[in-house]
Amino acid sequence: MLRSEIDAAVQQVLAGGWYILGKQVSAFEEEFASYVGATHAVGVASGTDALSLALKAVGIRSGDEVITVSHTAVATVAGIEQAGAVPVFVDVEPHSLTLNPELLEAAISARTRAIVPVHLYGHPADMEAIMKVAGKHDVAVVEDCAQAHGALYSGKRVGTFGNAAAFSFYPTKNLGAAGDGGMVITSTPEVAQKLKQLRQYGWEKRYISRVRGGNSRLDELQAAVLRVKLKHLDQWNEQRRDLAQFYSKHLAGSGLVLPDRNTGVRHVFHLYVVRSDEREALLRHLQEHGIGAQVHYPEPVHLQPAYRDLGFGPGTLPETEIAAKSVLSLPIYPEMGEAEANLVIQAVKKFGGKCS
Ligand SMILES: Cc1ncc(COP(=O)(O)O)c(C=O)c1O
Repeated sequence: MLRSEIDAAVQQVLAGGWYILGKQVSAFEEEFASYVGATHAVGVASGTDALSLALKAVGIRSGDEVITVSHTAVATVAGIEQAGAVPVFVDVEPHSLTLNPELLEAAISARTRAIVPVHLYGHPADMEAIMKVAGKHDVAVVEDCAQAHGALYSGKRVGTFGNAAAFSFYPTKNLGAAGDGGMVITSTPEVAQKLKQLRQYGWEKRYISRVRGGNSRLDELQAAVLRVKLKHLDQWNEQRRDLAQFYSKHLAGSGLVLPDRNTGVRHVFHLYVVRSDEREALLRHLQEHGIGAQVHYPEPVHLQPAYRDLGFGPGTLPETEIAAKSVLSLPIYPEMGEAEANLVIQAVKKFGGKCS
């Protein structure tokens, strides 16, 4: 069903012969903005570009400091640097593994211009506390929603709390394209207008640039595929949540630390991440049993070779560093049935059995 709908959507684009910034992109922008609950959405080429363009559009300039977490995909930090800004890291909350708002104030300097909270694994960061600090210090907030399409915080979708928010449509995301794609959402018309210029050579009208821009456009084929898939996003998120519940029910007492949630959030389980002191042995054991477990992420960004010069050495972000040693993502995707989840559960239990 989905396959034939996608085929038809792709055929329609090919038959129309209009590939860049046409009706599919505009329609998807409208539909996605309305899904999230914002007034504007601007399609771009990737989630990384969405972050960097969103930061530029809210006024970030070269040399400004942007606070984020190190326990995230490198892409978060790449997006910040692509905007010309300097990333400054704060540690995560030990239970949710998202930005710890209590540590924000100490990280704010005279050069701080924005905060990028990451709704990691599909779990919303504590936006109320983050927005309070941002408001007090008059710094912008750009939410990294790459792993959290459809997640809720206090009944509102993530992406609607900050000045702008970045989404990725990388194929494995909760809403994935047939290639790269991204989106910025905002409810500020001036920010949306700036984004539309930045994604296309800074043009305010054809061939005339208002600002210096580049090329970062979502294409018609991707938008057509994403329009079909957006209609299924809520159902897929429900399937992910059901599987997470199934895992948590059957893994209780297994010795693993199971994913925790802050109150008032609706987690969309892009990843189901457990924690174990014997992570490496468990990972090997699961892989030997044909289970596609993975680690998100094995090395915090601040300790990676490319980012050591940012000045955050070992020991500077203790919860982040502990998390990197213990997190393990069990397979989760909407089409996964309970029988497959059971295989994972049995393999985990077998490992527990071997140790005790
Ligand atoms: C947390 C996070 N931020 C940003 C990105 C960047 O998205 P993309 O791969 O579309 O550039 C990703 C995905 O890789 C991500 O997981």
